[in-house]
Amino acid sequence: MAQSVSPNLHLRILAIETSCDETALALVEASGGLRAPKFKILKEIVASQVKIHRPWGGVVPNLAKREHTKNLPDLFQKIFGTSHSFTISKRLKNVDLIAVTVGPGLEPALWTGITFAKDLAKKYKKPLLGVNHLEGHLYSFLLPKKTVSSKLKSQKSKLFPAIALIVSGGHTILLLLKDLTTFKKLGETRDDAVGEAFDKVARMLGLPYPGGPELEKLASILAKRQKPSINFPRPMLHDKSYDFSFSGLKTSVLYYLRDNPLNAEDLKLKADIAASFQKAAIDVLVAKTIRAAKEFKARSIILAGGVAANKQLRKTMNREAKKMNIVFLVAKQKYNTDNAVMIACAGYITHLRKKKYPLRANGVLNI
Ligand code: KG4
Ligand code: ZN
Repeated sequence: MAQSVSPNLHLRILAIETSCDETALALVEASGGLRAPKFKILKEIVASQVKIHRPWGGVVPNLAKREHTKNLPDLFQKIFGTSHSFTISKRLKNVDLIAVTVGPGLEPALWTGITFAKDLAKKYKKPLLGVNHLEGHLYSFLLPKKTVSSKLKSQKSKLFPAIALIVSGGHTILLLLKDLTTFKKLGETRDDAVGEAFDKVARMLGLPYPGGPELEKLASILAKRQKPSINFPRPMLHDKSYDFSFSGLKTSVLYYLRDNPLNAEDLKLKADIAASFQKAAIDVLVAKTIRAAKEFKARSIILAGGVAANKQLRKTMNREAKKMNIVFLVAKQKYNTDNAVMIACAGYITHLRKKKYPLRANGVLNI
């Protein structure tokens, strides 16, 4: 029989994330309700599969599934400090809700987390809630910076409307938020996600998987005073819509490399290509976000998703938000890439909204 969650606003949530190549678990205490949600992280673990997928140059779904299946009981044991089910039962006593990512992502990977969560919920008689991974990214801005919660409480009207840009390996989405839970999609990518473009260009430059952070590192080699010199296109920059396109930009890098073959020692050219690509992508992301912020008279800009870990993107968005005198909200870098803390966070909001996602993997779930 499905268990019900206590009506209390104060909830202890065990969250599970297995949508791609990170197995993650977190134990989070949530309080404050929708008016001023607040999160205290009690335990968090991320088991990265980078080494497993690196030789293949990208994530291999069946390897991800195998690793999640292996990792989940280990991480669970690490969180609860034992494999003894009587002790676990006692330690789980204070857990009010189990939250698990149901999509989007790789379905074989998602199923491992969902099955694990379902077994736990049944064994320890806990309520179980499905979470949208994209909402996990979106709400990551609420994470531990104390100031966000107090800002929400004291200046609620000053944060909304907000414009949120979600940039990950699978998505590039621009949202208009009327409040914390009422949002509308303004635009999204028509082809590659920006993270995917970073990864593909990184591969062209001979960088290992995962490409995004490697490309950022390479771009930073370009001396501070030297600006990126290659004028790659800024796709859809002047298009009236809020959609994006990154496939043409990626192809331009490919043609540039075809016409200017890299020689192994030419680190400076390689860094210039990386920095020029990065600048073109960031220019489009920031320009469209700022245009939306102006059009909808936003009071804040939210940046989220794996690509939000990019320092240059954070810096540029922050600078432009400051120019408009509006609040810039972004989680600490480690909460931009996949983790379970953000799933606990979105789980809390999903629960308070009384929203129910079916407890089955949905690879193409959107926001
Ligand atoms: O959100 P995320 O961890 O997983 C998905 O939900 O997709 O995002 C992963 C994406 C990858 O494409 C990765 O290369 C990119 O985020 N990424 C970065 C950086 N860190 C991660 N892209 C650019 N610069 C970074 N520092
Ligand atoms: Zn993600």
